[in-house]
Amino acid sequence: MAETINQWSVITIVLSGVALLVGVYFIRHRNREAHMRAMIVASSLATLFLVLYLTRLGLGYEKKYVGPNHGAYIALLISHIILAAANLPLALGALFNAYRGLKAAGNLGNIDAPGARVYFNRHRAWVRWTVPVWLYVAVTGWIIYLLLGRWGEVIKGA
Ligand code: HEM
Repeated sequence: MAETINQWSVITIVLSGVALLVGVYFIRHRNREAHMRAMIVASSLATLFLVLYLTRLGLGYEKKYVGPNHGAYIALLISHIILAAANLPLALGALFNAYRGLKAAGNLGNIDAPGARVYFNRHRAWVRWTVPVWLYVAVTGWIIYLLLGRWGEVIKGA
C-alpha cells in the first residue's frame, strides 16, 4: 500500500514537471490560454503529489539508502527537500500574481491594461525562480526514487 502511494507520488511529480515544460513552451509561442491550462494542470499534479507524499509520511513508510557514494546521495536528498519546500511559496506567488493580473485584465488578450501589467510583471519575476526550482525538484525526485529502488532498504512501515 505505502509502496504504491510512493510510486504514484513520483509519477505525479514527474508529470507535473512535464506539464510545466509544456506551459513554458506555450508561453514562448504566445499561446496564453494554453499556457494557463498547462500551468493549472502542473499545479494540480503538484498538489496531488503533496497529498500522496504527506499520506506516505503519515503511514510511516521510509527507505534508507545503502548504496555507494553515501555523501553524494545525502547532498542530493537535502537539496531536493529544501527546494521542494521552497517550491510551494514560489508556485503560490506565481499563481497569485497571474490570478490578480487576469482579474484586472478581464481576459488574456488584455494583459497590457494598466491595472494588469504590474501583476504580470510580478508573475514574470516569480516564475524566473519557480520554473527552475520546480524542474529541479521533479527531476531529482525521480532520481532519488530510482536510486532507492536499486539501493534502498525499507526501514519503517513495510
Ligand atoms: C505556477 C504556475 C505558472 C508558471 C510556473 C508560469 C510560468 C510562466 C513563464 C515562464 C512565463 C514567461 C515569463 C517571461 O517571458 O519572462 C509566463 C508568462 C505568463 N504567464 Fe504564466 N505561469 C504560471 C501560471 C499562469 C497562469 C495560471 C496564468 C493565467 C492566469 C498565467 C499567465 C501568464 C501570462 C499572461 C504571461 C505573459 C506575461 C507577459 O508577457 O508579460 N501564468 N508564465
